[in-house]
Amino acid sequence: MSVDLVLHNAKIYTPKGIVHAGLAVDEGKILKIAKKTNLPHASKRLDIKGKIMLPGLIDPHVHLRDQQLAYKEDFLSGTSAAAAGGVTLTIDMPNNKPVTMSAKSLKERMKLAETRAVVNVAFHSAFPESLEEIPQIVKQGAVAFKLYLSQKVGGTEIEDDDALSRTFSKTSKMKVPVSVHAEHKKTLEAVKKKMQQTGRRDIEAYLRVHSPDAELKAIQHTIRLAKKTSVHIHFCHVSSAEGLKAVLTAKNTGLPVSLEATPHNLLLSSKHLKRYKTIALTDPPLRAEEDVEALWNAFRHGLIDALASDHAPHTVEEKEAESVWDVRAGIPGLETMLPLLLTQVDKGKLAMRNLIRATSKRPAEIFRLRDRGSLAEGYWADLVVVDMKREYRIDSSKFHSKAKYSPFDGWRVRGKPTKTFVNGQLIMDDEEIVANPGAGQILRWKG
Ligand code: DOR
Ligand code: ZN
Ligand code: ZN
Repeated sequence: MSVDLVLHNAKIYTPKGIVHAGLAVDEGKILKIAKKTNLPHASKRLDIKGKIMLPGLIDPHVHLRDQQLAYKEDFLSGTSAAAAGGVTLTIDMPNNKPVTMSAKSLKERMKLAETRAVVNVAFHSAFPESLEEIPQIVKQGAVAFKLYLSQKVGGTEIEDDDALSRTFSKTSKMKVPVSVHAEHKKTLEAVKKKMQQTGRRDIEAYLRVHSPDAELKAIQHTIRLAKKTSVHIHFCHVSSAEGLKAVLTAKNTGLPVSLEATPHNLLLSSKHLKRYKTIALTDPPLRAEEDVEALWNAFRHGLIDALASDHAPHTVEEKEAESVWDVRAGIPGLETMLPLLLTQVDKGKLAMRNLIRATSKRPAEIFRLRDRGSLAEGYWADLVVVDMKREYRIDSSKFHSKAKYSPFDGWRVRGKPTKTFVNGQLIMDDEEIVANPGAGQILRWKG
Protein backbone atom coordinates (compact mmCIF):
# COMPACT_ATOMS: atom_id res chain seq x y z
CA MET A 1 0.00 0.00 0.00
CA SER A 2 1.23 3.48 -0.85
CA VAL A 3 -0.16 6.66 0.69
CA ASP A 4 0.01 10.29 -0.46
CA LEU A 5 2.52 11.66 2.04
CA VAL A 6 4.70 10.68 4.95
CA LEU A 7 6.20 13.28 7.28
CA HIS A 8 8.86 11.56 9.34
CA ASN A 9 11.26 12.37 12.15
CA ALA A 10 8.96 14.79 13.99
CA LYS A 11 8.09 15.53 17.58
CA ILE A 12 4.33 15.20 17.32
CA TYR A 13 1.91 16.67 19.89
CA THR A 14 -0.87 14.08 19.96
CA PRO A 15 -3.80 13.99 22.42
CA LYS A 16 -1.93 11.19 24.22
CA GLY A 17 1.28 13.15 24.58
CA ILE A 18 4.42 13.87 22.60
CA VAL A 19 5.70 11.14 20.31
CA HIS A 20 8.88 11.08 18.26
CA ALA A 21 7.44 9.56 15.15
CA GLY A 22 6.16 10.05 11.64
CA LEU A 23 2.74 10.79 10.27
CA ALA A 24 1.19 9.22 7.19
CA VAL A 25 -1.39 11.20 5.24
CA ASP A 26 -3.85 9.78 2.77
CA GLU A 27 -6.67 11.64 1.04
CA GLY A 28 -6.14 14.60 3.32
CA LYS A 29 -6.47 12.67 6.58
CA ILE A 30 -4.02 11.29 9.12
CA LEU A 31 -3.88 7.59 8.42
CA LYS A 32 -1.20 6.63 10.89
CA ILE A 33 1.15 8.04 13.49
CA ALA A 34 3.98 5.60 14.07
CA LYS A 35 7.71 4.96 14.16
CA LYS A 36 9.43 5.01 10.79
CA THR A 37 9.50 1.25 10.30
CA ASN A 38 5.74 1.02 10.83
CA LEU A 39 4.79 3.74 8.36
CA PRO A 40 3.44 2.83 4.92
CA HIS A 41 5.19 3.66 1.66
CA ALA A 42 4.36 7.06 0.29
CA SER A 43 4.61 8.82 -3.05
CA LYS A 44 6.11 11.77 -1.15
CA ARG A 45 8.29 11.75 1.96
CA LEU A 46 9.47 14.71 3.95
CA ASP A 47 12.02 14.76 6.76
CA ILE A 48 10.83 17.10 9.53
CA LYS A 49 14.31 16.95 11.08
CA GLY A 50 13.23 16.64 14.68
CA LYS A 51 11.09 19.78 14.70
CA ILE A 52 7.80 19.92 16.55
CA MET A 53 4.46 19.35 14.90
CA LEU A 54 1.30 20.89 16.35
CA PRO A 55 -2.34 20.73 15.30
CA GLY A 56 -2.97 23.62 12.90
CA LEU A 57 -4.49 26.54 14.76
CA ILE A 58 -8.24 27.06 14.62
CA ASP A 59 -8.87 30.77 14.98
CA PRO A 60 -12.53 31.34 15.87
CA HIS A 61 -12.44 35.11 15.33
CA VAL A 62 -11.14 36.47 12.03
CA HIS A 63 -12.32 39.39 9.90
CA LEU A 64 -11.40 38.26 6.40
CA ARG A 65 -13.31 41.19 4.80
CA ASP A 66 -13.18 40.94 0.95
CA GLN A 67 -16.18 42.11 -1.15
CA GLN A 68 -16.51 45.90 -0.72
CA LEU A 69 -13.91 45.85 2.05
CA ALA A 70 -11.29 44.08 -0.07
CA TYR A 71 -9.10 47.17 0.15
CA LYS A 72 -8.49 46.18 3.80
CA GLU A 73 -8.16 42.41 3.24
CA ASP A 74 -9.48 39.70 0.96
CA PHE A 75 -9.88 35.94 1.25
CA LEU A 76 -6.51 35.31 -0.38
CA SER A 77 -4.46 37.84 1.61
CA GLY A 78 -6.24 36.99 4.88
CA THR A 79 -5.91 33.23 4.54
CA SER A 80 -2.29 33.62 3.36
CA ALA A 81 -1.65 35.49 6.61
CA ALA A 82 -3.33 32.60 8.41
CA ALA A 83 -1.14 30.00 6.71
CA ALA A 84 1.99 32.03 7.49
CA GLY A 85 0.93 32.07 11.13
CA GLY A 86 0.23 28.34 11.36
CA VAL A 87 -3.54 28.86 11.33
CA THR A 88 -5.26 26.20 9.23
CA LEU A 89 -8.87 27.16 9.89
CA THR A 90 -10.34 30.62 10.28
CA ILE A 91 -13.89 31.38 11.35
CA ASP A 92 -14.95 34.51 9.53
CA MET A 93 -16.91 37.38 11.07
CA PRO A 94 -20.06 38.87 9.51
CA ASN A 95 -19.53 42.67 9.83
CA ASN A 96 -18.79 42.89 6.14
CA LYS A 97 -20.03 45.04 3.33
CA PRO A 98 -22.64 43.70 2.64
CA VAL A 99 -23.24 42.27 6.13
CA THR A 100 -23.42 38.46 6.21
CA MET A 101 -26.96 38.08 7.54
CA SER A 102 -28.92 35.83 5.18
CA ALA A 103 -28.54 32.49 3.45
CA LYS A 104 -28.02 34.42 0.22
CA SER A 105 -25.25 36.69 1.52
CA LEU A 106 -23.55 33.76 3.21
CA LYS A 107 -23.68 31.72 0.01
CA GLU A 108 -22.14 34.64 -1.86
CA ARG A 109 -19.23 34.82 0.61
CA MET A 110 -18.70 31.07 0.47
CA LYS A 111 -18.56 31.22 -3.31
CA LEU A 112 -15.81 33.85 -3.21
CA ALA A 113 -13.84 32.09 -0.47
CA GLU A 114 -14.00 28.81 -2.35
CA THR A 115 -11.82 30.13 -5.16
CA ARG A 116 -9.57 32.40 -3.07
CA ALA A 117 -8.86 30.83 0.34
CA VAL A 118 -5.67 28.87 0.99
CA VAL A 119 -6.71 27.61 4.43
CA ASN A 120 -10.05 26.23 5.56
CA VAL A 121 -12.76 28.77 6.25
CA ALA A 122 -15.95 28.50 8.28
CA PHE A 123 -18.42 31.34 8.72
CA HIS A 124 -20.33 33.31 11.29
CA SER A 125 -23.54 34.95 10.19
CA ALA A 126 -25.18 37.93 11.84
CA PHE A 127 -28.84 37.40 12.73
CA PRO A 128 -31.27 37.91 9.86
CA GLU A 129 -34.14 40.42 9.65
CA SER A 130 -36.62 37.61 10.18
CA LEU A 131 -36.03 34.84 12.72
CA GLU A 132 -37.67 32.45 10.31
CA GLU A 133 -34.53 32.59 8.22
CA ILE A 134 -32.27 31.21 10.97
CA PRO A 135 -32.68 27.56 9.90
CA GLN A 136 -31.88 28.46 6.28
CA ILE A 137 -28.67 30.17 7.33
CA VAL A 138 -27.69 27.09 9.32
CA LYS A 139 -28.57 24.91 6.37
CA GLN A 140 -26.32 27.04 4.21
CA GLY A 141 -23.57 26.17 6.68
CA ALA A 142 -22.93 28.97 9.20
CA VAL A 143 -21.16 27.36 12.16
CA ALA A 144 -22.23 30.14 14.53
CA PHE A 145 -24.13 33.40 14.78
CA LYS A 146 -22.42 36.61 15.83
CA LEU A 147 -24.15 39.13 18.01
CA TYR A 148 -22.70 42.60 18.53
CA LEU A 149 -24.10 44.27 21.62
CA SER A 150 -22.15 47.48 21.01
CA GLN A 151 -23.95 48.37 17.81
CA LYS A 152 -26.56 46.85 15.57
CA VAL A 153 -25.02 44.53 12.96
CA GLY A 154 -27.67 42.38 11.30
CA GLY A 155 -31.39 42.17 11.92
CA THR A 156 -31.86 41.83 15.68
CA GLU A 157 -32.80 44.91 17.71
CA ILE A 158 -30.16 44.67 20.39
CA GLU A 159 -31.89 47.02 22.80
CA ASP A 160 -35.10 44.98 22.74
CA ASP A 161 -34.83 42.22 25.35
CA ASP A 162 -37.81 40.29 23.98
CA ALA A 163 -36.28 40.28 20.53
CA LEU A 164 -32.99 39.03 21.94
CA SER A 165 -34.74 36.32 23.95
CA ARG A 166 -36.65 35.13 20.90
CA THR A 167 -33.42 35.08 18.92
CA PHE A 168 -31.64 32.98 21.56
CA SER A 169 -34.57 30.64 21.82
CA LYS A 170 -34.74 30.07 18.06
CA THR A 171 -30.98 29.59 17.79
CA SER A 172 -30.87 27.14 20.70
CA LYS A 173 -33.19 24.84 18.76
CA MET A 174 -30.60 24.68 15.98
CA LYS A 175 -27.84 23.96 18.55
CA VAL A 176 -25.58 26.51 16.84
CA PRO A 177 -23.48 28.65 19.19
CA VAL A 178 -23.83 32.42 19.41
CA SER A 179 -20.58 34.40 19.60
CA VAL A 180 -21.08 37.66 21.47
CA HIS A 181 -19.19 40.93 21.29
CA ALA A 182 -19.96 42.01 24.83
CA GLU A 183 -20.02 45.78 25.18
CA HIS A 184 -23.22 47.39 26.39
CA LYS A 185 -24.44 49.90 23.77
CA LYS A 186 -26.27 52.24 26.15
CA THR A 187 -23.29 52.45 28.50
CA LEU A 188 -20.92 53.18 25.61
CA GLU A 189 -23.21 55.87 24.24
CA ALA A 190 -23.78 57.63 27.56
CA VAL A 191 -20.07 57.98 28.32
CA LYS A 192 -19.19 58.87 24.74
CA LYS A 193 -21.68 61.71 24.80
CA LYS A 194 -20.07 63.11 27.93
CA MET A 195 -16.61 62.85 26.42
CA GLN A 196 -17.64 64.53 23.19
CA GLN A 197 -19.42 67.34 25.04
CA THR A 198 -16.14 68.26 26.67
CA GLY A 199 -14.32 68.07 23.34
CA ARG A 200 -12.33 64.95 24.20
CA ARG A 201 -10.89 63.10 21.20
CA ASP A 202 -7.91 61.32 22.79
CA ILE A 203 -7.16 57.67 23.51
CA GLU A 204 -7.77 58.08 27.25
CA ALA A 205 -11.32 59.19 26.43
CA TYR A 206 -11.77 56.12 24.23
CA LEU A 207 -10.76 53.91 27.16
CA ARG A 208 -13.28 55.66 29.40
CA VAL A 209 -16.04 54.87 26.89
CA HIS A 210 -15.02 51.27 26.22
CA SER A 211 -14.75 50.52 29.93
CA PRO A 212 -14.63 47.20 31.80
CA ASP A 213 -18.04 48.22 33.10
CA ALA A 214 -19.48 48.25 29.55
CA GLU A 215 -18.10 44.75 29.05
CA LEU A 216 -19.41 43.47 32.38
CA LYS A 217 -22.91 44.88 31.80
CA ALA A 218 -23.16 43.23 28.38
CA ILE A 219 -21.95 39.89 29.74
CA GLN A 220 -24.41 39.97 32.65
CA HIS A 221 -27.24 40.99 30.36
CA THR A 222 -26.48 38.22 27.87
CA ILE A 223 -26.31 35.59 30.59
CA ARG A 224 -29.60 36.77 32.09
CA LEU A 225 -31.39 36.37 28.77
CA ALA A 226 -29.60 33.26 27.55
CA LYS A 227 -30.30 31.41 30.81
CA LYS A 228 -33.96 30.98 29.82
CA THR A 229 -32.87 28.84 26.87
CA SER A 230 -30.17 26.25 26.28
CA VAL A 231 -28.32 28.40 23.77
CA HIS A 232 -24.53 28.11 23.81
CA ILE A 233 -22.98 31.56 24.26
CA HIS A 234 -19.36 32.02 23.22
CA PHE A 235 -17.99 35.26 24.68
CA CYS A 236 -15.54 36.85 22.26
CA HIS A 237 -12.34 38.59 23.37
CA VAL A 238 -13.03 38.77 27.11
CA SER A 239 -10.67 41.50 28.28
CA SER A 240 -11.45 42.62 31.83
CA ALA A 241 -11.06 40.91 35.21
CA GLU A 242 -14.71 41.67 36.06
CA GLY A 243 -16.03 40.40 32.74
CA LEU A 244 -13.93 37.27 33.06
CA LYS A 245 -15.24 36.60 36.55
CA ALA A 246 -18.85 36.92 35.38
CA VAL A 247 -18.29 34.44 32.54
CA LEU A 248 -16.47 31.96 34.76
CA THR A 249 -19.20 32.18 37.41
CA ALA A 250 -21.84 31.40 34.78
CA LYS A 251 -19.72 28.52 33.57
CA ASN A 252 -19.40 27.17 37.11
CA THR A 253 -23.15 27.11 37.53
CA GLY A 254 -23.31 24.81 34.52
CA LEU A 255 -24.49 27.21 31.85
CA PRO A 256 -23.34 26.38 28.31
CA VAL A 257 -20.88 29.25 27.90
CA SER A 258 -17.35 29.44 26.57
CA LEU A 259 -14.89 32.28 26.19
CA GLU A 260 -11.98 33.44 24.14
CA ALA A 261 -9.06 35.79 24.83
CA THR A 262 -6.76 37.53 22.39
CA PRO A 263 -2.95 37.65 22.36
CA HIS A 264 -3.08 41.46 22.44
CA ASN A 265 -5.13 41.49 25.64
CA LEU A 266 -2.75 38.91 27.14
CA LEU A 267 0.48 40.62 26.14
CA LEU A 268 -0.28 44.33 26.09
CA SER A 269 -1.87 46.67 28.60
CA SER A 270 -3.27 50.19 28.29
CA LYS A 271 0.22 51.44 29.19
CA HIS A 272 1.39 50.28 25.77
CA LEU A 273 -1.05 52.67 24.11
CA LYS A 274 1.30 55.52 24.98
CA ARG A 275 3.93 53.99 22.74
CA TYR A 276 1.85 52.36 20.01
CA LYS A 277 -0.97 54.91 19.97
CA THR A 278 -3.93 54.25 17.71
CA ILE A 279 -2.17 51.39 15.89
CA ALA A 280 -2.95 49.38 19.03
CA LEU A 281 -6.53 50.65 19.30
CA THR A 282 -8.98 47.75 19.40
CA ASP A 283 -12.42 47.18 20.63
CA PRO A 284 -12.50 46.02 23.43
CA PRO A 285 -9.35 48.01 24.13
CA LEU A 286 -6.15 47.17 25.94
CA ARG A 287 -6.78 47.02 29.67
CA ALA A 288 -5.05 47.69 32.99
CA GLU A 289 -2.30 45.39 34.19
CA GLU A 290 -4.63 43.78 36.76
CA ASP A 291 -6.93 42.72 33.93
CA VAL A 292 -4.03 41.24 31.98
CA GLU A 293 -2.94 39.35 35.09
CA ALA A 294 -6.46 37.97 35.61
CA LEU A 295 -6.54 36.69 32.02
CA TRP A 296 -3.18 34.96 32.47
CA ASN A 297 -4.32 33.37 35.68
CA ALA A 298 -7.36 31.94 33.97
CA PHE A 299 -5.34 30.86 30.95
CA ARG A 300 -2.77 29.04 33.06
CA HIS A 301 -5.57 27.20 34.85
CA GLY A 302 -7.07 26.04 31.56
CA LEU A 303 -10.15 28.26 31.99
CA ILE A 304 -9.85 30.14 28.70
CA ASP A 305 -11.51 27.97 26.09
CA ALA A 306 -10.07 29.54 22.99
CA LEU A 307 -7.42 31.93 21.84
CA ALA A 308 -8.52 34.17 19.00
CA SER A 309 -6.52 36.68 17.03
CA ASP A 310 -9.52 38.93 16.33
CA HIS A 311 -7.57 39.68 13.16
CA ALA A 312 -9.17 43.01 12.19
CA PRO A 313 -7.24 44.61 9.32
CA HIS A 314 -7.61 48.26 8.28
CA THR A 315 -5.52 50.62 6.18
CA VAL A 316 -2.82 52.69 7.89
CA GLU A 317 -4.82 55.86 7.11
CA GLU A 318 -7.85 54.41 8.87
CA LYS A 319 -5.70 53.66 11.90
CA GLU A 320 -4.23 57.14 12.15
CA ALA A 321 -7.16 59.55 12.02
CA GLU A 322 -6.80 62.84 13.91
CA SER A 323 -9.72 62.23 16.30
CA VAL A 324 -9.86 58.93 18.19
CA TRP A 325 -13.58 58.65 17.31
CA ASP A 326 -12.63 58.37 13.62
CA VAL A 327 -9.94 55.71 14.12
CA ARG A 328 -10.86 52.18 13.02
CA ALA A 329 -10.41 49.74 15.87
CA GLY A 330 -8.62 46.48 15.21
CA ILE A 331 -5.22 44.81 14.97
CA PRO A 332 -4.05 42.28 12.38
CA GLY A 333 -3.14 39.25 14.48
CA LEU A 334 -3.00 36.12 12.35
CA GLU A 335 0.74 36.24 11.72
CA THR A 336 1.81 37.04 15.27
CA MET A 337 -0.46 34.87 17.44
CA LEU A 338 1.50 31.61 17.35
CA PRO A 339 5.05 33.03 17.58
CA LEU A 340 4.03 35.32 20.45
CA LEU A 341 2.53 32.45 22.40
CA LEU A 342 5.34 30.03 21.62
CA THR A 343 7.64 32.65 23.11
CA GLN A 344 5.60 32.48 26.32
CA VAL A 345 5.93 28.69 26.25
CA ASP A 346 9.67 29.07 25.75
CA LYS A 347 9.85 31.41 28.75
CA GLY A 348 7.99 28.88 30.89
CA LYS A 349 5.02 31.20 31.37
CA LEU A 350 2.61 28.90 29.56
CA ALA A 351 2.31 25.13 29.21
CA MET A 352 2.29 23.86 25.63
CA ARG A 353 -0.74 21.68 26.39
CA ASN A 354 -2.71 24.78 27.43
CA LEU A 355 -1.71 26.52 24.24
CA ILE A 356 -2.75 23.56 22.09
CA ARG A 357 -6.02 23.10 23.92
CA ALA A 358 -7.00 26.74 23.35
CA THR A 359 -5.81 27.00 19.76
CA SER A 360 -7.18 23.77 18.33
CA LYS A 361 -9.00 21.24 20.49
CA ARG A 362 -11.52 23.50 22.25
CA PRO A 363 -12.39 25.68 19.23
CA ALA A 364 -13.06 22.48 17.24
CA GLU A 365 -15.40 21.27 19.98
CA ILE A 366 -17.24 24.57 20.45
CA PHE A 367 -17.91 25.11 16.75
CA ARG A 368 -18.33 21.39 16.06
CA LEU A 369 -15.63 21.16 13.44
CA ARG A 370 -15.67 17.44 13.11
CA ASP A 371 -12.37 15.52 12.83
CA ARG A 372 -10.34 18.69 13.24
CA GLY A 373 -8.23 20.14 16.03
CA SER A 374 -6.06 17.15 17.03
CA LEU A 375 -3.20 15.21 15.58
CA ALA A 376 -4.76 11.77 15.74
CA GLU A 377 -5.53 8.99 13.31
CA GLY A 378 -8.73 9.64 11.37
CA TYR A 379 -8.46 13.41 11.79
CA TRP A 380 -7.79 15.82 8.92
CA ALA A 381 -4.10 16.53 8.41
CA ASP A 382 -4.22 20.20 9.40
CA LEU A 383 -0.89 20.84 11.04
CA VAL A 384 1.96 23.22 11.56
CA VAL A 385 5.66 22.48 11.84
CA VAL A 386 7.41 24.77 14.29
CA ASP A 387 11.10 25.52 14.71
CA MET A 388 11.58 26.36 18.39
CA LYS A 389 15.21 27.24 17.78
CA ARG A 390 14.41 30.16 15.50
CA GLU A 391 14.63 33.49 17.30
CA TYR A 392 13.70 36.56 15.27
CA ARG A 393 12.00 39.92 15.31
CA ILE A 394 8.41 40.43 14.16
CA ASP A 395 8.49 42.45 10.96
CA SER A 396 5.04 43.67 9.89
CA SER A 397 6.36 44.90 6.54
CA LYS A 398 6.62 41.19 5.61
CA PHE A 399 3.03 40.33 6.55
CA HIS A 400 0.90 38.55 3.96
CA SER A 401 -2.04 40.52 5.32
CA LYS A 402 -2.76 43.80 3.58
CA ALA A 403 -2.52 45.42 7.02
CA LYS A 404 1.24 45.82 7.33
CA TYR A 405 1.52 47.21 10.86
CA SER A 406 1.43 45.72 14.33
CA PRO A 407 1.93 46.80 17.92
CA PHE A 408 4.24 43.79 18.12
CA ASP A 409 6.52 45.10 15.39
CA GLY A 410 10.14 44.59 16.39
CA TRP A 411 9.28 42.23 19.28
CA ARG A 412 11.74 39.40 19.72
CA VAL A 413 10.06 36.02 19.50
CA ARG A 414 11.20 32.42 19.66
CA GLY A 415 9.38 29.69 17.73
CA LYS A 416 8.64 30.00 14.05
CA PRO A 417 5.94 28.23 12.04
CA THR A 418 7.97 26.92 9.11
CA LYS A 419 5.46 24.66 7.32
CA THR A 420 1.68 24.66 7.32
CA PHE A 421 -0.36 21.76 5.95
CA VAL A 422 -4.08 22.05 5.30
CA ASN A 423 -6.08 18.91 4.48
CA GLY A 424 -2.74 17.16 3.97
CA GLN A 425 -1.47 19.70 1.47
CA LEU A 426 1.60 21.88 2.00
CA ILE A 427 0.33 25.47 1.92
CA MET A 428 3.13 27.49 3.52
CA ASP A 429 6.82 26.68 3.31
CA ASP A 430 9.28 28.99 5.04
CA GLU A 431 7.09 32.11 4.86
CA GLU A 432 6.09 31.43 1.27
CA ILE A 433 2.57 30.46 0.17
CA VAL A 434 3.07 27.47 -2.10
CA ALA A 435 -0.56 26.53 -2.83
CA ASN A 436 -2.97 28.00 -5.33
CA PRO A 437 -5.90 30.19 -4.30
CA GLY A 438 -8.82 27.89 -3.53
CA ALA A 439 -6.70 25.18 -1.86
CA GLY A 440 -8.63 25.70 1.37
CA GLN A 441 -12.03 24.17 1.98
CA ILE A 442 -15.28 25.75 3.06
CA LEU A 443 -16.41 24.05 6.24
CA ARG A 444 -20.12 23.93 6.92
CA TRP A 445 -22.14 23.25 10.06
CA LYS A 446 -22.88 19.57 10.38
CA GLY A 447 -24.54 19.62 13.79
O1 DOR B 1 -11.50 46.15 17.19
C1 DOR B 1 -12.47 45.70 16.56
N1 DOR B 1 -12.42 45.58 15.22
N2 DOR B 1 -13.59 45.36 17.21
C2 DOR B 1 -14.73 45.02 16.57
O2 DOR B 1 -15.71 44.72 17.18
C3 DOR B 1 -14.78 45.07 15.09
C4 DOR B 1 -13.44 44.86 14.53
C5 DOR B 1 -13.41 45.18 13.05
O3 DOR B 1 -14.19 44.61 12.30
O4 DOR B 1 -12.55 45.96 12.63
ZN1 ZN C 1 -15.70 42.05 18.70
ZN1 ZN D 1 -13.75 41.06 15.93
